[in-house]
Amino acid sequence: MKEKLAIGVLVSGSGSNLQAVIDSIEAGKLDATVKIVVSNRTEAYALERAAKHGIETVVIDHRAYDSRTGFEQALIDTFRSRSVQLVVMAGFMRILSEHFLGAFPMKVLNIHPALLPSFKGMHAQEQAFDYGVKFSGCTVHFADPGVDSGPIIIQSVVPVLPDDTADILRERILREEHRIYPQAIQFYAEGRIEISGRNVRVRGQKPLSDTAVCNPPTEGM
Ligand code: GAR
Repeated sequence: MKEKLAIGVLVSGSGSNLQAVIDSIEAGKLDATVKIVVSNRTEAYALERAAKHGIETVVIDHRAYDSRTGFEQALIDTFRSRSVQLVVMAGFMRILSEHFLGAFPMKVLNIHPALLPSFKGMHAQEQAFDYGVKFSGCTVHFADPGVDSGPIIIQSVVPVLPDDTADILRERILREEHRIYPQAIQFYAEGRIEISGRNVRVRGQKPLSDTAVCNPPTEGM
């Protein structure tokens, strides 16, 4: 039997994306195993979620280190000692530098709650809502040293509806995050991801139909 992909998850908060990954593994849809969950914050609810499923957790508080490199080296050592093959950032609110990324080249994924390259950074859902876009969504991408800027693996698009609030939009996007993150990890686990510069292809997929969608819908045009 093929070895399961060993993943390490980086969290800072609620951990609903971590939960989606755990649930997909337990449902037999994702051929991976969560070796360790690392949080930079002791109060992150994600730690409890992991513990409930018998997953090892560690807190590595960035404030305890004099330098970013020192903090990142502690992360590297923690993941290496558990033979982690893929690092999954799931609501991890720190930027990783070349030091960390060089230790796991093209082996770090991130999820962002917007259609990148729009609305990078914090509060992306609110940024999109306030801008008045008609569609938003979420993106899973390889991490690079920029903010929310690495090659894109998968995106999901959601409409913004006339009676939405920023909270409703956040929830709609989050539901999609919970589908596309396990899917992206499974593509990786299956070895189906091909990277050429910024362009990522998933081998062996049927292409999407090229039908466009308008919001609001056109009327007879
Ligand atoms: C998610 O919406 C994730 O996309 C976002 O933080 C939330 C974490 O939720 N990440 C970013 O904004 C990164 N730029 P979770 O802790 O419930 O998974």
